[in-house]
Amino acid sequence: MSSQGDAQQRVAFQYLETERLLGVDFIPVAPISSVRPQPPEPTPSGTSSPLDELRSRVEADFPFCDSLSSASRPVFGEGPEEARLVFIGEAPGAQEDETGRPFVGAAGQKLDQIIGAMGLDRDAVFITNILKARPPENRTPTVGEIESCAPYLREQLRIIKPEVIITLGGPATKFILGTTEGISRLRGRWGVWEDDALRIPVMPTFHPAYLLRNYTNETRKQMWSDVQKVVELLGLAKK
Ligand code: URA
Repeated sequence: MSSQGDAQQRVAFQYLETERLLGVDFIPVAPISSVRPQPPEPTPSGTSSPLDELRSRVEADFPFCDSLSSASRPVFGEGPEEARLVFIGEAPGAQEDETGRPFVGAAGQKLDQIIGAMGLDRDAVFITNILKARPPENRTPTVGEIESCAPYLREQLRIIKPEVIITLGGPATKFILGTTEGISRLRGRWGVWEDDALRIPVMPTFHPAYLLRNYTNETRKQMWSDVQKVVELLGLAKK
């Protein structure tokens, strides 16, 4: 591209950047793939993958504990086994309970925008929750519910071995980082999820439902700055 073309492109990006920060919604920065250049060995045909096996176990174990028995179905999570990035939310809500898919309601639409703004496709990342079924009245998960579902989340992470985890909101962040600190102190600061030999970087950020309720320039900038750190770590930033 000519130097004039470069300058125009820079101005265009700066314009978009300003628009984005000042009120326009998240704008995609770059179309990029988030699947690994060298995915793990494919599962031989006719056999199920470790993630499929885990899904079957979750389906068989549903509802996991008495207090989740009002849920209609398990919500395992979705995305490819070779995803480089895993998003972890709190628990399925009403629409997730109806469809069996994570983050498909209003918060899910906000999450889709954020994923798109990172330059990623939703189907290239893995999206899941701490709880694998909807708690009654959408209340905050109890310790017992978290304990009954935690082994499945751990197993998902062991199988996928993502390069980065983004935790959405306080409960997911506290659980993954094993801390009692609040999300407003933890967001934007790298943490680590450790499990035997695995050490996976964790970026805590706001839950999209919080963002929907508190949609200010400040919260948007904070969320954007958090996810930008992940974009950079994954080498997805526009050149
Ligand atoms: N909120 C969550 O934490 N998870 C979902 O799947 C939907 C809403």
